[in-house]
Amino acid sequence: MDKIGVLTSGGDCPGLNMALDAILRQSQLNNLFPVGILQGTMGLLHRPIQAHPLHEIVKNFGPDWSHQGGTILGSSNKGNPFAFTSPEGKVIDRSHEVIDAIRKLDLTGLIAIGGDGSMDILYRLSQRGDFPLIGIPKTIDNDVMGTDIAIGHDTAITVATTALDYLRPTAASHQRAMILEVMGRGTGHIALSCGIAGGAQVILMPEIQPNMSKVISYLKNLRDNGQKSFLLVIAEGINLDYPAISTASDINVGHRLAKIVQQALGIESRATILGHIQRGAPPNARDRLLAAVLGSHAVTLARRGQWGHLVVWKNNRAGQISFGDLYRDPKQPSLNANLLTTAKELGICLGT
Ligand code: F6P
Repeated sequence: MDKIGVLTSGGDCPGLNMALDAILRQSQLNNLFPVGILQGTMGLLHRPIQAHPLHEIVKNFGPDWSHQGGTILGSSNKGNPFAFTSPEGKVIDRSHEVIDAIRKLDLTGLIAIGGDGSMDILYRLSQRGDFPLIGIPKTIDNDVMGTDIAIGHDTAITVATTALDYLRPTAASHQRAMILEVMGRGTGHIALSCGIAGGAQVILMPEIQPNMSKVISYLKNLRDNGQKSFLLVIAEGINLDYPAISTASDINVGHRLAKIVQQALGIESRATILGHIQRGAPPNARDRLLAAVLGSHAVTLARRGQWGHLVVWKNNRAGQISFGDLYRDPKQPSLNANLLTTAKELGICLGT
């Protein structure tokens, strides 16, 4: 029986368990033996190596584990083995330990479910250690190259849209500006989608450096025309620069935006920092389907011996792209042009 290592790496997101379930189910039907590695690459740095048969691991969880958020394998966004920070604060290369662990586990190959950072690290490890790798893209941020959408992103949009639905009544009751800060690291994919879906008047994202004077005049104009409450979405990774009003640089951009709006316009403003709720939610139906399709497709590729690929969702179907092609011309996925056009057509202020 071929032993296939499976791990989840980087920040968790909705849909990871569903992908693991798909991997387990197709493997069991085809005489493959998936081995779950715990806490991402940390499990491979640990001695004894932290890995167990996946069918044994699932027994520790309730019957609905595959539909829940998080990952039954655990994950880590701290264990870069090429630049590992020791407890003494020294940065050391421990990549050889991971490679050694993979050899000791006697794996035919490794299926890694990760974001762009994890994928880059695992690809480099697979090159250095000469072991076969298949990647599955996941992250709420949707910044994995090569795929139209990554596992977890759709649920994060749903959570953020629901948050806007809950903020609207309280904004209206108190005639306030409600600011919702969403995750996304250096990207505004979640902000753009939830902002349109949730009916925000303003959406600010790192990809479009906002001119705050224009944002202020836009809101002023709405207010002069009778609007009494406002919803603004801001992505966490934005550089918010508005020297006219001083804000502490160490507070969240959501709170800074609230202070700017309140001081510049005299509109009472409050900020909600949505945070990890976007990551820990149960996957919605679309994420469950995406995870099932990509998890299963990864096993199909492994069975065919087609290692060295990232499985992707492209043009409405599952496919794969070789890591060689992926990294030949690395390009971060840009904001969805259709959504940007729609936002402008609907009169939403994007800060310019
Ligand atoms: O990359 C996923 C993500 O949730 C980002 O959106 C966010 O900036 C980051 O991870 C948070 O990381 P941590 O869990 O370490 O706070």
